[in-house]
Amino acid sequence: MRKGILGLTAAAAALSLGLTACGGDGGGTSTAQNSGGASASSAAKPGKIGVILPDSKSSPRWETADHKYLEEAFKAAGVAYDIQNAQNDKSAFQTIADQMITNGATVLMIVNLDSGTGKAVIDKAKGQGVPVIDYDRLTLGGGASYYVSFDNVKVGQLQGEGLVKCLADKKVEKPIIAELNGSPTDNNATQFKQGYDGVLKPKFDSGEYTKGPDQSVPEWDPVKAGTIFEQMLTSQPKIAGVLAANDNLGNAAITVLKKQKLNGKVPVTGQDAGVQGLQNILAGDQCMTVYKAVKKEADAASQLAVALAKGEKPSVGGTTKDTQTGQDVPAVLLDPLSVTFDNVKDVVADGFVTKDELCKGEYADKCTKAGIQ
Ligand code: BGC
Repeated sequence: MRKGILGLTAAAAALSLGLTACGGDGGGTSTAQNSGGASASSAAKPGKIGVILPDSKSSPRWETADHKYLEEAFKAAGVAYDIQNAQNDKSAFQTIADQMITNGATVLMIVNLDSGTGKAVIDKAKGQGVPVIDYDRLTLGGGASYYVSFDNVKVGQLQGEGLVKCLADKKVEKPIIAELNGSPTDNNATQFKQGYDGVLKPKFDSGEYTKGPDQSVPEWDPVKAGTIFEQMLTSQPKIAGVLAANDNLGNAAITVLKKQKLNGKVPVTGQDAGVQGLQNILAGDQCMTVYKAVKKEADAASQLAVALAKGEKPSVGGTTKDTQTGQDVPAVLLDPLSVTFDNVKDVVADGFVTKDELCKGEYADKCTKAGIQ
């Protein structure tokens, strides 16, 4: 069995156990061929699963990883599915959901663009008896049936600790820190910030670090991030460390730093471990990223969706608190992993990016130095 580099949390382990117990070998399919082991009741034909992804520009992950892994999982389970991308359009997001339900979706999986429109979709779906899984982003006040994601406060904590380590390695004293936060309408961005501020604030308070500009980037838009960081660096040219909430925001900061020949001198963080983020790490322009094994996230969510589509009520070991309603949402939360130059190779070994796409041209030598086979 292939051993991933991430451990499952107790909740995720409980999920796979629970589903093994009730879902058999996953052989029930929409084409009515049942691979045998399942009992008569679970041979019921599962319905169709609709997935709405948020956009294609805030991170490469949605199309290159989530879409791919979800599709593979649904195909393997033999269920009917429809995966669409709202391309950052909130009204399209709702129209897609309506159409999916009209076209027979019996389960929805959504990555909301904000909690308001996410909740509108969940309310309508629930009204028609269609359960909804919040995938990666929790819809505040939404009351989804399940939430599948990573421990997002931990993601932020790894970013904060990564930045501290990079600054210490470079022996930077009394650094001024800039923060480029994710979208203000994404609950994950709030949790990431909670994580990294938990690491940075004590250092601001003690005077070891100085707090610099701190801004959210609407819609996680890398173009807006570039403009924002340009302004940050103009108003505070002595920025010595950048906490960027994902690789795309980090790359926007790096592009601005390059113009001042400050790239590689000012450590920048990230998240998602996509090709560009990892290349920025190999080049020494980005000090760390956070790898989230999206395959595990997609597998956990699709197992839940398939069980729901068969009319089962799978139980998961964990919960997450909806800070708006105070209610606990049944949740599967996976562990993120901090990645620096030294373990970029583990992301390749895990199959998340390929050596071919990562180690092109100028990156070939750097890949060799980083031990990427
Ligand atoms: C996800 C990140 C992603 C960001 C922008 C967040 O909700 O958790 O992985 O980088 O959205 O798409």
